[in-house]
Amino acid sequence: MAKPSQSQTGAVAKAETVLEAQAPAFSVQQAEAIARRAFNIRASAHPLDSERDQNFRLRAKGGSEWVLKIANPAENPALLDMQTQALLHIARVDPSLTVPRVKATPDGALFDEIDGSDGRRFIVRVLSFLPGQLLDDATLHPALGRDVGAMAARLACALRGFFHPAARHELLWDLIQAPALRMRTHHIEEQGRRRVVEEIFDHFDAVVLPQLKKLRAQVIHNDVSCRNTLVDGNRVTGVIDFGDLIHAPLVCDLAVPIAELIREHPDPIAAAAEITAGYHAVTALEDDELRLIFDLVSTRCAMEVAVANWRVCDHPENADYIMAGVTQAGAQLDRMREWGEERMYTAFRRACATPVSIEFSDFSPSPANEDNMQSLIERRRQLLGPEVELSYDNPVHVVRGEGVWLINDTGRSLLDAYNNVPSVGHCHPVVVQALARQAATLNTNTRYLYTSVIEYAERLTATMPGDLSVCMFVCSGSEANDLAWRLAKAHTGNAGGIVMEDAYHGTTDAVYELSPADYGIDKGRSLAEHIATVPAPDGYRGRFRRDDPGYVDRYVACFDDAIASLATRGFAPAAYYLDLVLCSNGIMIPPPGYLSAAFRKVRAAGGLCVADEVQSGFGRTGDHLWGFQAHDVVPDIVTLGKPIGNGLSMAAVVTTPAIVASLMQKTDFFSTTGGNPVACAVGLAVLDVLEQEGLQQRAARVGAKLRSHIEKLADQHPLIGEVRGAGLFIGVELVRDHSTLEPAAKETAAVVNRMLELGVLVGIEGPCSNVLKIRPPLVFDENHALQFTDALDQALQASDQIEP
Ligand SMILES: Cc1ncc(COP(=O)(O)O)c(C=O)c1O
Repeated sequence: MAKPSQSQTGAVAKAETVLEAQAPAFSVQQAEAIARRAFNIRASAHPLDSERDQNFRLRAKGGSEWVLKIANPAENPALLDMQTQALLHIARVDPSLTVPRVKATPDGALFDEIDGSDGRRFIVRVLSFLPGQLLDDATLHPALGRDVGAMAARLACALRGFFHPAARHELLWDLIQAPALRMRTHHIEEQGRRRVVEEIFDHFDAVVLPQLKKLRAQVIHNDVSCRNTLVDGNRVTGVIDFGDLIHAPLVCDLAVPIAELIREHPDPIAAAAEITAGYHAVTALEDDELRLIFDLVSTRCAMEVAVANWRVCDHPENADYIMAGVTQAGAQLDRMREWGEERMYTAFRRACATPVSIEFSDFSPSPANEDNMQSLIERRRQLLGPEVELSYDNPVHVVRGEGVWLINDTGRSLLDAYNNVPSVGHCHPVVVQALARQAATLNTNTRYLYTSVIEYAERLTATMPGDLSVCMFVCSGSEANDLAWRLAKAHTGNAGGIVMEDAYHGTTDAVYELSPADYGIDKGRSLAEHIATVPAPDGYRGRFRRDDPGYVDRYVACFDDAIASLATRGFAPAAYYLDLVLCSNGIMIPPPGYLSAAFRKVRAAGGLCVADEVQSGFGRTGDHLWGFQAHDVVPDIVTLGKPIGNGLSMAAVVTTPAIVASLMQKTDFFSTTGGNPVACAVGLAVLDVLEQEGLQQRAARVGAKLRSHIEKLADQHPLIGEVRGAGLFIGVELVRDHSTLEPAAKETAAVVNRMLELGVLVGIEGPCSNVLKIRPPLVFDENHALQFTDALDQALQASDQIEP
């Protein structure tokens, strides 16, 4: 619609004053004379459109062009001054921004005053004329959408340090004032439409406004619209018209371009996401801001409908002009109600993970990437050694992460279904802020007194049962398991270890011995003398199958063999280690009754039970925070790592005071950086996010859905042998034959590589390398689960054709 143009002096009532006051009516000759006399510009004048002011384009003899602006006398002079000062401020702080420049009079005044023949006085200003095409809402290319968003953000950046006493004036188009239009909705004749508009205003008043008031605010342009945005191809070249300038929540600046530009767009959500992503690449939007955009856009559309219907009652003769675009604004409201807020928010979050342009984004491509990937790989081989693992046939060069997305060096967003370390989502802003804030405040030697380590230990131990009440902080899962080994040996006086065949517990010398997956019995290296293994209780392909009578008991009985075997070598068990999701065994959850019986046997032989929660902890398995809680057991030692710091190197051991005392009687323990203030701040932030976002519950809900989607795929893809796991830790075993269970390792690798091509990251696991390892950040949602399943379906179709 044609909205009442440019600077309004008030909300609803005040708007009336300016709109009703007669616009200035100077002739072209008078305009030329004013320009000459007051601004020393010799130019021809050409009238420009304006509803209530009068504007002339001035073409000077030397080629320069200007706009002569004669303000409506009802306009508040303070607002005109604010516009002028804002333009001067922008010219000072970001001269590269193309906005009109203020032309002063020869004696330095920023405006002149003239008397009209009707006795009224008019303020006259001159601004530079910006050439360019006006943005056309029907042809919004994605790149242009991003540039619109980026321009809005750059303008806001430039205005960050600007203030003016008139900035918090009453403005009809101030979103904060939207509820005031409620008193005009009776002008909307169509009842259904009126109801929708009223509901939006009511919702805004009751729900949106209280949240909006908590967001960062500053002076914003507030009208980056088609009328005011100049473009050249897919680039924004400038922004004009500072008449709606206002002090308001920053995010409101997005409502205008989105509301307008998505109206005619064939894929409106994608267009809105492009604009938002463009903004985000310049100024990172906070999650609360992203969430509100949907409501701000629908409120803006509702305002347009309400204002136009009100205005047309007073000016039926201008109906065509006033009502232009209102039908689309109304239809837009209907569509938005169908979408719902969540859909738009999800699209925004996804789009904001996508880097926009190198110029504005917060990363730069590495020189190696520009050369080529091969040189990067070669340098890595030389500097880190040729054996250091690199995933994928065509390795991925990642440059950024956000939520469930990893972005590669070409800007492509990859759905991350693999990485469990950034458990609350890549670069979660709460965690990042906690880290940055603490790093900027204090990070020091852990032998000093500071509160966060105590608070964090209190939070962690409060989640643990029994006597698990003491924390020891280290820096990696391997270190945690290493320390657990020292604790167990000190407490029991024994030196033997029991682990699962194919277990993996880390990299230190002691823990390496506890990790047969790493040295591999069948890779030629035998178990260390003090270690005995038990088979994983694998009911699918293991030694005893689900159909075998008493199969769980038979697996439990293996502990007798392991203990006896240790005894023959002169060892008693100090500890039994169990990864609660049996990751390196091919991902499986121990069957009911198994763990409690196993613990009893180990304890009867004098050993301690160590729950290695490095993979399974922090809500991943969905029903519980810790994997062991599903089995009605209380371990003697719990080791934590990976997701504990969402990527920061930190880890912990939680155990009983008696066990700690046993170690301390014999030796000392000190970790320089384990549990330092930054680690604790991050650990606390991770716990906060887990709780506030209900991520454990989400893991249960989304994980169950994802498993059931994948199980359904098994009907069409015989390669799927078994789908298993808990929460968002899922294993999909691929086999060539359902009776022989011949492992489909080659096909598994092909599926993983194909999924990368389809934009999804997933891993390979298990002793036969034939299990798809699916353990995404816990912010994975139902839509991501569908996208994952789609890609898996396609990848499996391709693998059906592979020659074994
Ligand atoms: C079950 C388990 N424990 C311990 C570790 C070792 O953790 P980190 O690599 O942080 O030392 C791992 C690593 O993959 C693991 O899977």
